[in-house]
Amino acid sequence: MTTGEIGGRNHFTDFDLDSREFSENFDEVVSAVHAGCPVARSEVQGGYWVVSGFDDVRAIGQDWQTWTNTDGYEPSRSGTDEARLYPLEIDPPYQTRWRSLLGEYFSPRAIRANKEGIRTNTNALIDQFVEQGGCDWVDAFAAHLPGRVFFSTMLGVPLEDLPYLQAAADQAVRGEISERADGWNKVGAYLDGYLRQRQEEEPRGDFVDAVLRGVETDDGEPAPWNHKIFVMVDMLAGGLATTTFLLAGIAHFLATHPEDRQRLVDDPSLHAGAVEEIIRVYASILSLGRTATRDVEVSGQQIRKGEMVMLSYAAAARDPRHFENPHTIDITRKIPTNIAFGYGPHRCIGSHLARLQAVTAMEEMLRRLPDLRMAPGADVVFSHSTVTRDIVSLPVEFTPGAKEGA
Ligand code: HEM
Repeated sequence: MTTGEIGGRNHFTDFDLDSREFSENFDEVVSAVHAGCPVARSEVQGGYWVVSGFDDVRAIGQDWQTWTNTDGYEPSRSGTDEARLYPLEIDPPYQTRWRSLLGEYFSPRAIRANKEGIRTNTNALIDQFVEQGGCDWVDAFAAHLPGRVFFSTMLGVPLEDLPYLQAAADQAVRGEISERADGWNKVGAYLDGYLRQRQEEEPRGDFVDAVLRGVETDDGEPAPWNHKIFVMVDMLAGGLATTTFLLAGIAHFLATHPEDRQRLVDDPSLHAGAVEEIIRVYASILSLGRTATRDVEVSGQQIRKGEMVMLSYAAAARDPRHFENPHTIDITRKIPTNIAFGYGPHRCIGSHLARLQAVTAMEEMLRRLPDLRMAPGADVVFSHSTVTRDIVSLPVEFTPGAKEGA
């Protein structure tokens, strides 16, 4: 039985979601907590609990009365931060009203309409490096597609603004940690200006018009302007780094599993299931927080009112009680509930957009880069923070192809 001592740190009594010891021993630590410590303790950032079991994560996700989101999504965030993320950091019923308003624009049917736009963006990016026979997949592709898709298909911003917005979003998500706040400020300022401009224009009947319409707060007042900005920023905070990691995960999987890659080239009916399984194993949200509104017990551990728990979606997605060989990607596995997207009222609103980007990108990768492989001697570089897991570098090679002029 493990004691939780891995890589020089005790992950049962002194977990640190941000730590190198966790990042470098991810699979081993996740297995250890599942085997011996479903609710681990952290002594960093003021202290918090880490919940890893599939059933516990699911039950807490559903029980928003006991577990509030209003104290922030990570330990260092509680307090008076002016820049909030909505609907992530509010509870029902206000949260439900926002979700009902926005849901129609993120439904599978609404999202499907973006398929050809996503394909065009995918091929335009591949055109930029296909003749070279190699690239860093994150820098050349994965970091760019989610922003291009979101800004051009969901927001409808002018094309000439895309490079600025993409660079600001890139800085916010992947820049030096000290530079990220500045990146988000730029994104927030741009979105503020864009919303003001759209308010003066004829409605287009899109997601931005819905945000402008807004909903009522719990006091029956119209949602104030800053709440609308919080919603816009949450879409980017929730949708960019996560999808970047997923697109990098797909490339990493294809580059390191040539037999599965060939099966996927030969049989497109396997694509959607393979993507689901890649989302499970390369779960981009490492963890997100809840705060106890009363004293409560979780898997035998007493949690006191006011304490924060981090729900580890990435660990829950590898719970051996739910998944045989949990660290292995089996492209034919059937996944009834993909806990990597969360559970309950805050379950990911962008899941269908992420899936569609992933399936479309996989189709085009298999068509245009069918022998994608790791560059000789190169290795994937993972990193993570409290909230997201990332691939920061993925040097790949492939037989050079021709541009298609997408
Ligand atoms: C692989 C891709 C993605 C993964 C793994 C992922 C994961 C998650 C998870 C686990 C949650 C639940 C948060 C919680 O319970 O506290 C969530 C919520 C959310 N996601 Fe995603 N996400 C992805 C892509 C996207 C995309 C593409 C968008 C938008 C364009 C998006 C927007 C959001 C928003 C706004 C929320 C908050 C919803 C709420 O609080 O009601 N996500 N996501």
